[in-house]
Amino acid sequence: VSSQDSAPRTTLARTATKRTVLMCKPTHYTVSYRINPWMHPEDPTDTAKAVAQWQTLHDVYERLGFDIHLIDPVEGLPDMVYAANGGFVLDGVAYGAKFQYPQRQPEGPAYMDWFRDHGLRVAEPVETNEGEGDFLLVGDVILAGTGFRSDSTSHEEIASVYGREVVTLNLVNPSFYHLDTAIAVLDPEPVDGTHTIAYLESAFDEASLAELRRRFPDAILASEEDAAILGLNSYSDGSNVVIAARATTFAEQLRERGYTPIGVDLSELLLGGGGVKCCTLDLHPAAGSPAV
Ligand code: ARG
Repeated sequence: VSSQDSAPRTTLARTATKRTVLMCKPTHYTVSYRINPWMHPEDPTDTAKAVAQWQTLHDVYERLGFDIHLIDPVEGLPDMVYAANGGFVLDGVAYGAKFQYPQRQPEGPAYMDWFRDHGLRVAEPVETNEGEGDFLLVGDVILAGTGFRSDSTSHEEIASVYGREVVTLNLVNPSFYHLDTAIAVLDPEPVDGTHTIAYLESAFDEASLAELRRRFPDAILASEEDAAILGLNSYSDGSNVVIAARATTFAEQLRERGYTPIGVDLSELLLGGGGVKCCTLDLHPAAGSPAV
């Protein structure tokens, strides 16, 4: 038993780093098909409410000093608001998304056009993948989800695009169908050489759990209750963590570690199976690069 296990946890000083993100206003948002267990097309949705809630998220990011880019929403693509799925951007290269379900497939080229128009080199995907929904950068490593949406062959593809280590994680619960519904990355930059993440243990198979425990022994383990409202689907600048307002236990866990949780109500977007992180694509601008 290492001393780490019994030592009291010292609260680290957290440092915010300016984030650059891409968002898409839910102008055409609705739930008209069912591709995840959260979606009930027979129930009504309120687009104006979705827009208002999304605007609140946008304004929180603005207040935090983020550089926010917007992509034009496309009529007939109601899920386009979940910008995290539109691709994965790192080192000035955008690895495009290739969606699993036909309803979302036109989003791939729409996002790739935006990336090209904003000076990014686009790596066109051959393999099925849903961008930052399933790929999360932690330090130098890309955590990659599979089981419901992104094909594991895309993990090899993204590894060859970026020349980075890619860690495959198998998702097993259809309610947590994207990696960003089951893991929250809390430190965009390392703190004392490590990164804190939060995750939901029951969302992974045994092999993936072993991998997570080995790599992140000090991770926050989320409660089923918080995960069940997509509380893990959050976005952090290293100090401020924007989370679902109802994820109160997660908020407490974050405070214990020195983070400042900021609750936002995205209940209308939860009807589509998405939360804070889903609405946020991190553009990871290269250090010193002028803009995106
Ligand atoms: N309705 C969307 C889908 O099922 C929700 C996507 C949520 N996005 C995310 N990054 N988890 O594809």
